[in-house]
Amino acid sequence: MKTQVVIVGAGPAGLLLGQLLHRAGIDTLILEQRSADYVLGRIRAGVLEAGSVEVLERAGVAGRLHAEGLIHDGFEIGYCGSRHRIALKEFTGKSVTVYGQTEVTRDLMEARSAAGAPTVYEAEDVSLSDLAGSPRVTYRHQGRTHEVQCDFVAGCDGFHGVCRRSIPADSIRTFERQYPFGWLGVLADFAAPWHELIYAASERGFALASMRSETRVRCYIQCSLQDSVEQWSEARFWEEFGQRIGSDLAAKIPQVKSLEMSIAPLRSFVAEPLRYGNLFLAGDAAHIVPPTGAKGLNLAASDVFYLHEALEAHYREGSSTALDGYSARALRRIWRAERFSWSMTRLLHSFPADAFDQRMQQTEIEYLLESRAAQAALAENYVGLPL
Ligand code: APR
Ligand code: PHB
Repeated sequence: MKTQVVIVGAGPAGLLLGQLLHRAGIDTLILEQRSADYVLGRIRAGVLEAGSVEVLERAGVAGRLHAEGLIHDGFEIGYCGSRHRIALKEFTGKSVTVYGQTEVTRDLMEARSAAGAPTVYEAEDVSLSDLAGSPRVTYRHQGRTHEVQCDFVAGCDGFHGVCRRSIPADSIRTFERQYPFGWLGVLADFAAPWHELIYAASERGFALASMRSETRVRCYIQCSLQDSVEQWSEARFWEEFGQRIGSDLAAKIPQVKSLEMSIAPLRSFVAEPLRYGNLFLAGDAAHIVPPTGAKGLNLAASDVFYLHEALEAHYREGSSTALDGYSARALRRIWRAERFSWSMTRLLHSFPADAFDQRMQQTEIEYLLESRAAQAALAENYVGLPL
């Protein structure tokens, strides 16, 4: 079998790249190790930058997003019992759109099947060879082994995928920071008593009040890395969340059963460069951000936007300049989002810190809440740096 681009991974990065390439007349095959239902069952982030919305529009998948997404012109920071609004729109002229990653993925899957473009779900043992020349990709599906020849492989297979691991160790460098806590998240169906997202720094630890729609909330609390979901009853979660977010809101949280509860560790990670021969990395395969800045999905969108432009220039004009520049172009934006996500994480969480570090953290938050210049910088990053 032959195709132009094999895309490994049917998360948002792989599916969005597939759709952008399809619209450019470039043939792709997507190989995904899980089932479509499994991919849609993963609960992930939910805040889209205006630039990501534009990329989804270009991919022709923004219809439902515009009908159902919630436009937010600001968010709040909770600190010492009160809340302070960061006026995103006022500072930047831009807003963000609250629309779940699951819904983005669903829209992309539907567009791909409407386009008749091939995706193999439950593709096992995906393996890459001859990446420096004419790449070959093998996989097993329903007991049979298949081999595909292609011009390029797009590694969109997430942090634990096979693509980054297929690059020889002396051709890739990685940068990593792990944080000494995780996020315990709950998804539940009730109308949020908050109108915009609240990022709360409390003495008991960080909490985030978010939402997915008018009737569905997503909330997180900073937790210990040793904690397991089983240790946290729903009642205990809401009790702790309420203490961190404020009693006025806590009183308005109804007692409903949650739809999902999970713990995720926080990590910053970048691989460089994003190219090895004819393999290109994009999305979580290339980098991880802690979720505090809501940048994971947005970075996946900007990576694949750059990559699709470069592949299109190759096929349409026979020019390799954009492909040669992909890694540096994407990494410039990635490192800026890494910096922002790291600084938001440091600012708002409780760390095992000495007295000096604690005073510095307090001073930084108080400076932010009093300085319009500092708020403008935060807003500029939160709504997304230019593509
Ligand atoms: N073979 C085939 N598919 C694989 C393999 C493999 N060896 N390993 C992983 N995959 C698949 C996963 O099952 C997953 O569906 O690759 C996909 C990667 O998707 P994501 O993890 O969602 O990563 P990405 O598409 O880059 O999306 C980035 O998702 O994880 C969030 O916070 C992140 O919001 C960001 C966004
Ligand atoms: C979410 O709704 O899941 C969410 C929102 C904002 C973040 C992280 C996660 O910064």
